[in-house]
Amino acid sequence: MNNIFSDRISDVPKSFIREILKVAVDKEVISFAGGLPNRTLFPVQELRMATTQVFDKYGPDALQYSNSEGLMALREFIRARYKNKFDLDIPVDEILITSGSQQGLDLLGKTFLNEGDDIIIEEPGYLGAIQAFSVYKTRFNPVKIHDQGMDIVALKNVFPGRNPKLIYTVPNFQNPSGISYSDSNRREIAGILESRKLFLIEDDPYGDLRYTGKASLSFKQLIPEQTIMLGSFSKTVVPGFRLGWIVAPAPIFEKLLIAKQASDLHSNQFAQYVLAEYLAMGGFDAHVSKIKSVYNLQREAMLKSISRHFPEQVHVTRPEGGMFLWASLPNNISSMKLFDIAIQNKVAFVPGHPFYIGKKETNTLRLNFSSVDEATIELGIGRLGAALNILLDGTDS
Ligand SMILES: Cc1ncc(COP(=O)(O)O)c(C=O)c1O
Repeated sequence: MNNIFSDRISDVPKSFIREILKVAVDKEVISFAGGLPNRTLFPVQELRMATTQVFDKYGPDALQYSNSEGLMALREFIRARYKNKFDLDIPVDEILITSGSQQGLDLLGKTFLNEGDDIIIEEPGYLGAIQAFSVYKTRFNPVKIHDQGMDIVALKNVFPGRNPKLIYTVPNFQNPSGISYSDSNRREIAGILESRKLFLIEDDPYGDLRYTGKASLSFKQLIPEQTIMLGSFSKTVVPGFRLGWIVAPAPIFEKLLIAKQASDLHSNQFAQYVLAEYLAMGGFDAHVSKIKSVYNLQREAMLKSISRHFPEQVHVTRPEGGMFLWASLPNNISSMKLFDIAIQNKVAFVPGHPFYIGKKETNTLRLNFSSVDEATIELGIGRLGAALNILLDGTDS
């Protein structure tokens, strides 16, 4: 059976997180492993109302085939937000509605990558991007990130030998680490890229979820002709609609549109109508504020519990937004060892190695705080702290 499948799909690893989540289905396990938005915050009543209005106003038109670019009302909404937030003037015909930003990654792979082409990716990096680009048999050039962004020396070191076509970044509240690139780090990166022929992907599903600190620059303000932006309604409205977008300069947009047509003709028309109706009702900003205040309490609860229960040698990031914290164990102790003890203690997280290229073990791990309430966070972090103490006591650190 084996060689009936394409090399393209045979070489792509299964989602490790899906595999891990199977272990965490035991109801007694407190899971910090998922990356889910908090379902209790989904605007169910408002979406019910918007759905009724869509049927009343548009009837069958909301259920017909449509154009590949996406619903104009949604594209207009996105254009207006970039204007308000960054004072960016993005023409609507550079905004393509996608089936989640995950599809944006696939379309970029399809549009740019031949087998063996080089791409730069931040390390640790978003697992879904690694998976999406792997399908195109790209060669990854990982560049380490630290608390302030990308390691500039490591980034410069890629270029003498390689000619990457794309550089993939999540500069705000990164998945998995929670870190954000500082403005000066962004300027340095832009300075390195502007004389070269490659495009930077700014994947920003978490940018609206800032709890402290001040807003950062977008790469689109620094190197507009070289920046491709990905956005998503998954974290601010609902992930189940699978609606996101790509912003790309006109020549790239044209090619992405062909890739989009070949993939699925267009994104879900009905979901686009309902989302546009919901956004037109005017409660979006208040809704995002509500999500932010809940997630911020959960973030603070997790940081407080960590300071109570984790041994001091464990380093943990303090993200200003998003949904994740990132911990590093001392003395290169493997987080898989911790995982085994943690599961016995009925608590789960994602070990860090799937977020790296070609690593089987690391001393890092990701903790999600958006989908667990504050009392459960305290209980789960207590269990994880106990697991850490068992592990570190046993390893003399
Ligand atoms: C960095 C990043 N990019 C893209 C996505 C995909 O989001 P969606 O396809 O739901 O828009 C996620 C989801 O968790 C993510 O963390």
